[in-house]
Amino acid sequence: MKIIDLRSDTVTLPSSDMRQAIFEAQLGDDVFEEDASVNLLEKKAAELSGKEAALLVPSGTMANLISFLVHCPRGTEALLGDKSHTFIYEAGGISAFGGIHSHQLKNNPDGSINLGDIKEAIREDNVHFPKTSLISLENTHNKCFGAPISRAYIQDVLQIAHESNLKTHIDGARIFNATVALNTTLSDLVSDVDSITFCLSKGLSCPVGSVICGSKDFIYHARRVRKALGGGMRQAGIIAAAGLTALKNAEDQIKKDHKNAKLLAEGLSSIDNISIELEYVKTNIVYFKLSSNKMESKEFLKIMEDSGVLFFESLSNQYRLVTHYGITETDIYDAVEIFKKHLSF
Ligand SMILES: Cc1ncc(COP(=O)(O)O)c(C=O)c1O
Repeated sequence: MKIIDLRSDTVTLPSSDMRQAIFEAQLGDDVFEEDASVNLLEKKAAELSGKEAALLVPSGTMANLISFLVHCPRGTEALLGDKSHTFIYEAGGISAFGGIHSHQLKNNPDGSINLGDIKEAIREDNVHFPKTSLISLENTHNKCFGAPISRAYIQDVLQIAHESNLKTHIDGARIFNATVALNTTLSDLVSDVDSITFCLSKGLSCPVGSVICGSKDFIYHARRVRKALGGGMRQAGIIAAAGLTALKNAEDQIKKDHKNAKLLAEGLSSIDNISIELEYVKTNIVYFKLSSNKMESKEFLKIMEDSGVLFFESLSNQYRLVTHYGITETDIYDAVEIFKKHLSF
């Protein structure tokens, strides 16, 4: 039985081009900054993001943690969305390891935070309050239907940040899904943002790795924090080589993933027992609900798994499907048929 694994874009396996590039990669000790492949990837990432420098790290979680640790002195406060990955899914690392006070603001379904809420949340200088040091956004926004966040909105947030002398960060685990959806370039989308991360291991379908981009000074400090967290890797060129291959082909694959997500959403919307908001599907993430409660979620997931379709329940009766390299258009049609078969009652 073919397994159609729609749980996440992190389940991708490396392409044969990637495996070849890994095999042939020029390597060195990256903690000594002597790995040619890592140096090349970091140079390429800096160019693409329009920043001065970049740093390869093991994961998106570490990329965000390092960025927060560099931007936010202990005891200061970071503003971030209440549905952000950093707040929900990163084990509270920013407070556990950085003593950073997280101040969560409501995320709208399009991933934005109301500008008025941001303005109001910035603390005045008063001995009772922590100092606000950072505003962090997520693009695309995982929990908010994979929404891409526009340059215009980012610029509005930047203006508020600059007025109050705050740093800005974007968790861009899926930033290339945003640039494709918005038909723009990374450097245009994130110009003037202090730091931006992106994951090699999601839409770019590499086995491992994330990249942080920022000023030379920021990356200088980030490198030391990476070492302190145990994220200094030695012949990390085997990771970077896959990343360099992915960056060459990323756009085409991501376009396919977005097309497949739309097809999937449209297919699901034709099933009576499924409730889905088609207008929210703009990238590679599809959320839906069951409109009848005839089946418990555990039972539903098990029946689908036994038929070869894997996905997660993200909240109670909110299911998430993600398209990625390894999922074909035929898989989408097959998956929709399997949903139809089990939901026709
Ligand atoms: C938006 C976002 N940020 C950060 C991460 C963390 O990435 P990693 O799993 O590589 O730690 C994820 C992972 O899914 C994510 O979706």
